[in-house]
Amino acid sequence: MKSLVVLHASQLITLAGPKRPRVGAEMSELAIIRDGGMLIREGKIEILGSSEEVAKNARDVEIIDADGRVVLPGFVDAHTHLIFAGNRLDDFERRARGETYEQIAKAGGGIWSTVEKTRAASSEELFNQAQTHAEWFLRCGTTTIEAKSGYGLTVEDELKILRVMQRLNEEKPLEIVPTFLGAHAVPRELDVNEYIDLLIDEMLPRMSKEKLAEFCDVFCEHGYFTIEQSRGILTAARQLGLGLRIHADQLSNSGAAQLAAELKATTADHLEKTDERGIAAMKSAGVQPVLLPGSVYALGSTAYPHAREMLDAGLAVVLATDFNPGSSPTPSMPMILSIACTRMKMSPAEAITASTINAAYSLNRGGKIGSLERGKLANFSIFDCEDYRELAYWFGIPQTHSVYVKGERVHR
Ligand code: NIG
Ligand code: FE
Repeated sequence: MKSLVVLHASQLITLAGPKRPRVGAEMSELAIIRDGGMLIREGKIEILGSSEEVAKNARDVEIIDADGRVVLPGFVDAHTHLIFAGNRLDDFERRARGETYEQIAKAGGGIWSTVEKTRAASSEELFNQAQTHAEWFLRCGTTTIEAKSGYGLTVEDELKILRVMQRLNEEKPLEIVPTFLGAHAVPRELDVNEYIDLLIDEMLPRMSKEKLAEFCDVFCEHGYFTIEQSRGILTAARQLGLGLRIHADQLSNSGAAQLAAELKATTADHLEKTDERGIAAMKSAGVQPVLLPGSVYALGSTAYPHAREMLDAGLAVVLATDFNPGSSPTPSMPMILSIACTRMKMSPAEAITASTINAAYSLNRGGKIGSLERGKLANFSIFDCEDYRELAYWFGIPQTHSVYVKGERVHR
């Protein structure tokens, strides 16, 4: 592996700081080095500092001149539904005509329509589609994603999806952290209790035995899985050693944030309808909220989660795309930064902390990625701007100049 040095970043956004997720005022501290540089050996960061200091150590190395651009750790996207077949263009058009997500699902669109297509697709087809989408993430400056299964809903189809993730993770530069979301919906051919038995007795043990998932997630929502049912599934998952994440309070406040707290889940995700009781429960249990404003935006809703209350309560907020064909067809973290700042009143610095170091901790990888610090992986992006706030400010225009994973250029 070759060594390289990056010089002359207008702002080297390091996010160096305490070795834990950042809260409160810490979320505004990006630890910026002006005219910064870093030396990379064996895919890891060895030296960071001013370009002048770093250049002194740069013998026999490839030089990358950032030429006055911003350099940022690779974004960490802690909530995606990467693997699916087809798209949901018809749903999209129906929503544009005024139908709701729930109405469309009842009328034959929604998650179920993607399940049918995903079941019919071969592993190769799923791999090819996911590979294209994995490249979209890199193109937007994201170098690690969490990815959920959940469009198979049979033992074999869920395994097929998780194996596609595993292969993609092994063969391509985008790092993928796998989550088993068998409890994404109840398959049409079973009643809910039969399906939960299948999940607990067959699916979870298979995933765990083949080490295909690090986390288990449940869509806890009316018409999907109740609090009781979610508790049962997640408790079984925890006994197998999986970390827990929950799709919580997205469309209605069912107390799922409190369930996340009770189970000491790593994250509670969505939280559009969560109130102050849910926020207090997450705070006392150390649950990280994962906010997904892309799905609120794309569903044409204005019910954004109460990010400011969560930040003020001292929660270690995470931002993610929720990339999926139905409610959030975007792989773009810069787009999420824009929505977070304009709709949820997060500052650009808070939004960047939420989409890098805090996201890394929510995937148990805070010691390895999410900031640019000595010993961490050299996963970073160079953006065509001088000030990090431009990432959230200009929207709808790609500003990515180049992207690196373990010191290797993976985009442009
Ligand atoms: O996170 N809420 C459930 N799951 C996805 C949507 C999945 C779909 O519509 O296909 C979400 O928004
Ligand atoms: Fe989701």
